[in-house]
Amino acid sequence: MNKRFLLTLCAVVSFGVPLLAGGGTISKDIPLYKQPSASTDMRVADLLSRMTLEEKVLQLSQYIVGLNTNVNNTGEVNTGLPDGVGSYIYFSGDAKLRNALQRKAMENTRLGIPILFGFDVIHGFRTIYPIPLAQGCSWNPELVGELSAIAARESRMSGTDWTFSPMIDVARDGRWGRVAEGYGEDPYTNAVMGVAAVKGYQGDTLSSKANVAACLKHFAGYGRSEGGRDYTATDVSRQSLWETYLPPYEACIKAGAATVMSAFNDISGTPATANCYLLTEVLKKRWHYQGFVVSDWNAVQQLIPQGVAANRKEAARKAFSAGLDMDMKDDCFREHLTSLVAEGKIDEKEIDESVARVLRLKFQLGLFENPYTPVYEDSERILRAEDKEVAARMAQESMVLLKNDNSLLPLKKGMTMAVIGPMAKDKENLLGSWKAHGRAEDAESIYEGLEKEFGRHTRLLYAKGCDFDGNDTSLFAEASSVASQADVVILCLGEKSAWSGENASRSTIALPCIQEQLATELYKTGTPVVILLSNGRPLELARLAQQCDAMLEMWQPGIAGGTPLARILSGSVNPSGKLCITFPFASGQIPIYYNERQSSRPDQGKYQDIPTTPMYDFAYGLSYTTFSYGALRASSAAIQKSGKVRVEVPVTNTGNMDGYETVHWFVSDPYCTISRPQKELKHFEKRFLKKGETALFTFDIEPQKDFSYIDETGNRFLEEGDYYVIVKDQKVNIEIK
Ligand code: GLC
Repeated sequence: MNKRFLLTLCAVVSFGVPLLAGGGTISKDIPLYKQPSASTDMRVADLLSRMTLEEKVLQLSQYIVGLNTNVNNTGEVNTGLPDGVGSYIYFSGDAKLRNALQRKAMENTRLGIPILFGFDVIHGFRTIYPIPLAQGCSWNPELVGELSAIAARESRMSGTDWTFSPMIDVARDGRWGRVAEGYGEDPYTNAVMGVAAVKGYQGDTLSSKANVAACLKHFAGYGRSEGGRDYTATDVSRQSLWETYLPPYEACIKAGAATVMSAFNDISGTPATANCYLLTEVLKKRWHYQGFVVSDWNAVQQLIPQGVAANRKEAARKAFSAGLDMDMKDDCFREHLTSLVAEGKIDEKEIDESVARVLRLKFQLGLFENPYTPVYEDSERILRAEDKEVAARMAQESMVLLKNDNSLLPLKKGMTMAVIGPMAKDKENLLGSWKAHGRAEDAESIYEGLEKEFGRHTRLLYAKGCDFDGNDTSLFAEASSVASQADVVILCLGEKSAWSGENASRSTIALPCIQEQLATELYKTGTPVVILLSNGRPLELARLAQQCDAMLEMWQPGIAGGTPLARILSGSVNPSGKLCITFPFASGQIPIYYNERQSSRPDQGKYQDIPTTPMYDFAYGLSYTTFSYGALRASSAAIQKSGKVRVEVPVTNTGNMDGYETVHWFVSDPYCTISRPQKELKHFEKRFLKKGETALFTFDIEPQKDFSYIDETGNRFLEEGDYYVIVKDQKVNIEIK
């Protein structure tokens, strides 16, 4: 037996590492790391023992390849790279280029370590489905999981093993463009939806050709961006970190998320990318995280402008020593880690620990045994009909009916409809930000959806009315004329997809004036108006709401939004979406969110010039039917800390249409050692009720989980006293004895 094999064997046996991966035999003639019957830990140990320091550092380096489509850094390329890099951000969408690059790593390098190919598959690879902010409004985590599995399958079959998703940054400032990428303002919602996405992406085994590794981002507190401006410093107290920003990450880590991405932002003086408390104390020591942390784009080098590194070498040292494992794009690690080890400023054992984390994922993905992606027919790989159907279901369940005066909706067939506005025939902007390999040509426009749903019985008129922005009112007259000929106006407004997403902050969340002016002109005609909104953030709608009879938030639905939208307008589908983020009355109210702490003078401190309440609350959404809530009841009025209590509420569909209802269960603890948010979402349940049907919605409370609070050290405490469980306008008191 060769010495290295014996050494590895001793190493792993002495640490009690399992030798075999469930059966099979170990050959002494083949390097252990190349033997799938050996356990992953054993293969990692063996491979590490064979690697030079330079080879190790290369595994901690990620570069880009393919046409860089990220508008925030287009043109940035990596050139002159060695064959065996740790990872690529893979902008190309086909397996051939990937296989060519992978072959170089497998065949031209000493140890043949496969490359990990990552990409931003945020809401679909080619079958683009609603943006995550819309998904949050569906209150359907199962559907989030289904869609993530579709995205994973398309990605893996196209040569991408790893997605930089889900983004689970709690966000409460609609001016911040990245609010589109997460699941809204509430920690619990982001946790539940994030877990669903992780499980959808990763499935039962990462080695499957239909699964990809997930990446939780951006760790942490990025959503607290000052003024909603991207990349800015964030002032996040430890209390807020633990109470608001970390819970989604802890939940998703427990769900097995393979990787984490550190955030751009400075966190009260320590940038996330060099934040030892976050990356090591919390993530690796307290949560026992076994995956690895990749930086965000150039974030290591950005420690210099952030003022904590004098040069790239210090940036590399600080980031790595804080717990960052992989450096995205800026090459600081490859440039300096080797010399930092030589100078004794970094211990090679720490390098080994990070490399082991990266190698472990590559083994788990099966890349050593299957480094190449088969070349599939497009018909098998992307845009399958059944997948587009799932995307349509999410579009349908995420749209939120905001206003419906005099039950204008649903619309009767046989009408004359004037379809007006910049979004009416648009396709590109329905895809939203981070559209990966999505194409406008794949999308169904609002107009096309209306034609399919209403076309046979309804006369559709069209006018563009105006552009998305600017001040050209020359098309107003034509639009007003078309409106005057119709029984109803369908006014299609909203945002360009580039107005949200990364580096897309806006000083106001109102739509451009030209769109509001068009609405005013059309409302003057006297023809009833339905406003449809396609956007990537909460909007300021106080004025627009006065210029219409009905208003529907359709978000950015991806490629399959037109028909679901039309089916809601026709009444074939009863809208069921409810907001996962508050819509402020005005941009000046920002930040405003449901789970704020109580004011010291709840009845004072109001704005003098605008209401202090939002335009549309968290969890708001109308239906075509009505739901009546019976009495909220608790199985006990007082329990021990270790006890359990069931709270239930009967809900009846008292209207004339079947429909989904989501019940949101909040907890309130008005007297505690620390002041707590006025109420906190702890459970939600969505069910389909036929007209006249009554269903019992329940919440089984575990006080330690649902009533306790978390303090600035991350410890949970459950105090005796009165707690309240709140549903709509009811609350029931439960005493913890
Ligand atoms: C970007 C984003 C991050 C993305 C990464 C790779 O700058 O901040 O969300 O995953 O770089 O594209």
